[in-house]
Amino acid sequence: MLKNKNIILGVCGSIAAYKAALLLRLLIKAEANVQVIMTRDAVNFITPLTLSTLSKRPVLTDYFDTKTGEWNNHVELGLWADLILVAPASANSLAKFASGICDNLLSAVYLSARCPVYFAPAMDLDMWAHPATQTNIERLKSYGNHLIQPGSGELASGLIGEGRLAEPYEILEAILNTQSNQQQFKGKKVLVTAGPTHEAIDPVRFIGNHSSGKMGIAIARVFHTLGADVTLISGPTSEHAPEGVNLIKITSAQELLNACLDNFPHADITIMSAAVADYRPKVVAEEKIKKNTDSMTIELEKTTDILKTLGSKKKEKQILVGFALETHNEIENAKDKLEKKNLDFIVLNSLQDEGAGFAGNQNKITIINRAGEHFQFKLKSKLEVAQDIAQHTLTLL
Ligand code: CTP
Repeated sequence: MLKNKNIILGVCGSIAAYKAALLLRLLIKAEANVQVIMTRDAVNFITPLTLSTLSKRPVLTDYFDTKTGEWNNHVELGLWADLILVAPASANSLAKFASGICDNLLSAVYLSARCPVYFAPAMDLDMWAHPATQTNIERLKSYGNHLIQPGSGELASGLIGEGRLAEPYEILEAILNTQSNQQQFKGKKVLVTAGPTHEAIDPVRFIGNHSSGKMGIAIARVFHTLGADVTLISGPTSEHAPEGVNLIKITSAQELLNACLDNFPHADITIMSAAVADYRPKVVAEEKIKKNTDSMTIELEKTTDILKTLGSKKKEKQILVGFALETHNEIENAKDKLEKKNLDFIVLNSLQDEGAGFAGNQNKITIINRAGEHFQFKLKSKLEVAQDIAQHTLTLL
């Protein structure tokens, strides 16, 4: 699986750096092209000569090669890589990656790369357990990077606990596992809707909602990473759509309906996470409404329930997933929507759960399927929630 793949092996300053030699041997045996980049501290733990001999390439440590006077172009290196593996990843380097500090070649390459990134931390147990490190780990995971969990045992300090670099064969196994899992949706067309809709009142005003679009965009990103051919229909949001998905931008519920009707017949899986307006102004004023009166009334009319429309057109093999945002009688209301809209499962957000819903980078969901089973998940990053939704979808394929 790694044959002819371009891999950057980042080695940071940690006593576990000696294991990088064994890891490098495994990668070379798997016929990967490996470029080692070491941080300045790493060279105190293992010599660049060892790693350059094993990788058959000069090891890079700095932006500038003082011997040749040449510049090591971090952007080119980042784009060259099919995969970046940082092992051992020190607390310091993880903090740099998490906050985008690029004061060395490795962190600049990390920031320039578009490929999957794996990091295998190694540090003392208190450094590992510190909230600063754990926050950085969560942040890196929310970027879609993969954590290879450190092991537990006797550490170089003599203390016993978590923080030991995973064994080289475990690191390779973790990469191979995710790489093979990563194509679970290959050949599948996935339609995802995201964000709010804006319903015009006049040329300058609209009725909208607080949806950030983050949940739908995370879902599109995860399905794309898992090999699906993804179309994302997105309402107005400041979030960026993931690279590689087919993006259709809409503003109103009517435009969303049209785009869904165009794309739904070809979709194997449709996930409707957009927060669609239920009502829109019956008449849209052609000119800006002046404040000539002390009060005003806007008459609203119902929009089409897009999900219900798609549910009525659903073919046997198509999978249709909806969201339900509820404040009370959550399970009952969600089950009701599942039935009425002919869904395969529904993702429930309860506003009674702290952290769930529109705002922020986290969400807390319950999945309810047609058999009436409930799957409750804890508060997680939206990217992890999207992974749970993808995994649940997989059980239906
Ligand atoms: N939805 C839709 N078209 C609408 C309204 C909602 O497709 N006009 C979809 C949403 O994208 C979501 C699901 O229906 O996947 C449930 O949305 P929600 O707002 O929770 O429920 P509603 O059906 O609008 O019902 P209510 O607002 O009365 O709870």
